[in-house]
Amino acid sequence: MAIAVALILLLAASVLFYFLSPWQLLPLASNWKAIDTTISISFWVCGFVFVAVVLFMVWSILRYRYDERRRSGYDPENKKLEAWLTGLTTVGIAALLAPGLIVWADFVTVPEDAHRVAVVGSQWHWQFRYPGEDGELGAVHVRHTGPGNPLGIDPEDPAGQDDIVIDEPVLRLPVGLPVELVMTSRDVIHNFNMPHFRTKMDVLPGQMSYFWFTPADVGEWQAICAELCGIGHYAMASTIRVLEVSEFDEWLARQPTFAQLQALDPGDPESGRAVYARCTACHGDRGQGNPATNAPAIAGMEPWYLRRQLQLFKEGARGTAPDDQYGAQMKPFADMLDRQQMRDVAAWVHGLEGSAGSATISGDEQRGRRLYRTCGNCHGADGEGHRIRNAPRLAGTSDWYVARQIRNFRDGIRGRHPQDPYGSQMIGMVQYLNDEEDVHDVVSYINTLGAAATGSGSTSAGGE
Ligand code: CUA
Repeated sequence: MAIAVALILLLAASVLFYFLSPWQLLPLASNWKAIDTTISISFWVCGFVFVAVVLFMVWSILRYRYDERRRSGYDPENKKLEAWLTGLTTVGIAALLAPGLIVWADFVTVPEDAHRVAVVGSQWHWQFRYPGEDGELGAVHVRHTGPGNPLGIDPEDPAGQDDIVIDEPVLRLPVGLPVELVMTSRDVIHNFNMPHFRTKMDVLPGQMSYFWFTPADVGEWQAICAELCGIGHYAMASTIRVLEVSEFDEWLARQPTFAQLQALDPGDPESGRAVYARCTACHGDRGQGNPATNAPAIAGMEPWYLRRQLQLFKEGARGTAPDDQYGAQMKPFADMLDRQQMRDVAAWVHGLEGSAGSATISGDEQRGRRLYRTCGNCHGADGEGHRIRNAPRLAGTSDWYVARQIRNFRDGIRGRHPQDPYGSQMIGMVQYLNDEEDVHDVVSYINTLGAAATGSGSTSAGGE
């Protein structure tokens, strides 16, 4: 009897939990109403079977309670009952599978008029590529990948010349137009999951996977990686921004094409030298930095990283958080520079050879070495930095500055701005450094990585 009551309570609680729980399907933001219908068909079939089976168990427990006077019968074959059970199960399974097959066929049958966007996953971020005016994506190959060409577009392929590479994890789409996402991975298996759009697909190295959908509303949503892909998996998120068609066209027209980026002036160090005159008061004439002015060593810094940070300061994505007093000191200097000056000064700073000086932070290097493994996945085992992972060089930087930036990321002083997606990724990544001791240990290990390491091919012009 107690078991029967327990089963009834379990049943009631499960049903109530479903209807009262806050975890319902997210509001739908695409055309895939059919996927919701499939999910609810599955739910009702499973729900009905669950209720029926539990009620049957309760009934059996009550009906066949132990009774001394009752004799059991033996009934090895019951054709009629078996026919019923087989029939009902067949209908149930068909109801579970058939709608999914129909919707799946639809999901991978791309309409003729769909425009294409390429999605590239890598540990641990997403990049996107639009086909440009010819509507055709250029060929890519891993042998073409490099600092100025993170997606490996074939420089010889005419179709790729007007391709537009978006080097930030923001997927912009026009509302109401069907889009086909063609996806591939640069390293391991990822999964591009857009829960509000009910779309989700594995992203595999060496293969293309694809699906299509039509964004239904203007707004902002999130895509996440739904395949455990390493230590930074949880930070592998991307924003989906659905815009009015005109707004989208305007934005796309403003983006430089692959050919334009390749032709960009890499910056003239001699002009940069004049621009750098304004920086010397704090950063030193050889870019060696100065703790007294809170200016980190920047000598040898990769041009792409310096340009990006200058641009972030200028746009107000860095140096504007209420508690970022040192960032606020930097901002007016970035405000003075136009894009060409940023290129020039970055080229000059890259050639500087000032050293950050002796270590100011000490800690347990062995412990720091273990903690650094997580950092090394992006910043390189020797702290050399990787353009392709958007990770700057750490070796040879001012240790006090690195420690402060870790704290800034952790405390929300840096990386919170929506225009700073890689900063926000760092917020996720530094969470594993729990206290000051961790910070000191990891920074003291970075100090051992030697200033000699230089960023991978960091002189190229490409990709802002
Ligand atoms: Cu990529 Cu998880």
